Amino acid sequence: MFSELLFRGLAPRPTSLYDIFMSFTRCDRHLIPQKLLRWYSFHKRDLPWRRTDDPYKIWISEIMLQQTQVATVIPYYQRWTRHFPTLASLARARSSEVLRYWAGLGYYRRARMLHRAAILIQKALKGKIPRTAEALRTLPGIGRYTAGAIASIAFGEKTPVLDGNVIRILTRIFGVKQSVDRPSTLDKLWELAASLLPENAPGDMNQALMELGATLCFPGNPKCPQCPVRTLCVAHKKKKESFFPVRSKKERYEKIKMAALVLQDDKGKVWIEKQREHDRWGGLWMFPFWESKKGMFKEIGKDLRRRTTLLLTLRHAYTRYRITLEVYKAQIPERDGRFRSLKRRHGRWVSVRKTGSLAFPAPHRRIAASLLAENL
Ligand code: ADE
Repeated sequence: MFSELLFRGLAPRPTSLYDIFMSFTRCDRHLIPQKLLRWYSFHKRDLPWRRTDDPYKIWISEIMLQQTQVATVIPYYQRWTRHFPTLASLARARSSEVLRYWAGLGYYRRARMLHRAAILIQKALKGKIPRTAEALRTLPGIGRYTAGAIASIAFGEKTPVLDGNVIRILTRIFGVKQSVDRPSTLDKLWELAASLLPENAPGDMNQALMELGATLCFPGNPKCPQCPVRTLCVAHKKKKESFFPVRSKKERYEKIKMAALVLQDDKGKVWIEKQREHDRWGGLWMFPFWESKKGMFKEIGKDLRRRTTLLLTLRHAYTRYRITLEVYKAQIPERDGRFRSLKRRHGRWVSVRKTGSLAFPAPHRRIAASLLAENL
């Protein structure tokens, strides 16, 4: 609200996005895509999914890139496309195998949806991936952004993308003072993104925006001197880059503390649990975990509590949550009846080495890695 008011102060009256766009001369409106495309052709990163025109592989990359950094995605993409080189091979695979190749990337719903969509395309669409954003959006796991990315990059459809990066770039270039928390502003930004697309290479234009957001137009400390559109950018001209995008709501992170337990028996085996299919981490293996340390101690009882020591503390982010995971360890002399509470859980005892070949989400993989390091 504060920054919005501040801008109200700067602007004598609110301007519509259409007015903003039209306030750029016809020449400038053409120059923006021209300059971005030229810059992209010289500066684009050599990414594995940019070396293919296979729609299946482009689709895989776009799903992996949802909420995940390029550097994290690259090895997963490579391993995945080696193991599931075609849509048919993915459609044929078992869900446990699909999850194994996704394990560590997070947001596992993406893998389940991808698999469901592959089966659906194989069965109902004779293996042909839909060619338009509108048709792609009917598939599981494909939202407006991903549909636009796949349709424009793989099929050359003139259809826009809009995510946090593109919002930041467009609000800066055009000096958009309306709050991006308003659906009406987002509708207009979609229109603005569409208006920049050239007839040929709309996929390159969309990727140029993604690239600019990832490599120069950062939220803090943008590298304006290297930016191809700095001379046209309203935010830069006013030296107010960091004021955009304008938000009326404060972004709220919720901090939560959780606890996990590594139980190790007299033979060195550890107890791990398979998450039920419909859970968020369905099909993956995890160490037993609780919403709080108190909950953990209550469930495991006094005997076991006396044996627990703190092994490590992990921090990770999940959507708006900032999670601190305290990991405890307890050595038990034998798998006796005193630890009956575990029997209600669905799990098994495995050697620490075996954990390396099972699918764990990233924080629990880190726990397993620290145990492996401890065993060496
Ligand atoms: N983020 C989402 N899609 C992308 C792409 N095709 N290239 C780079 N980063 C991306």
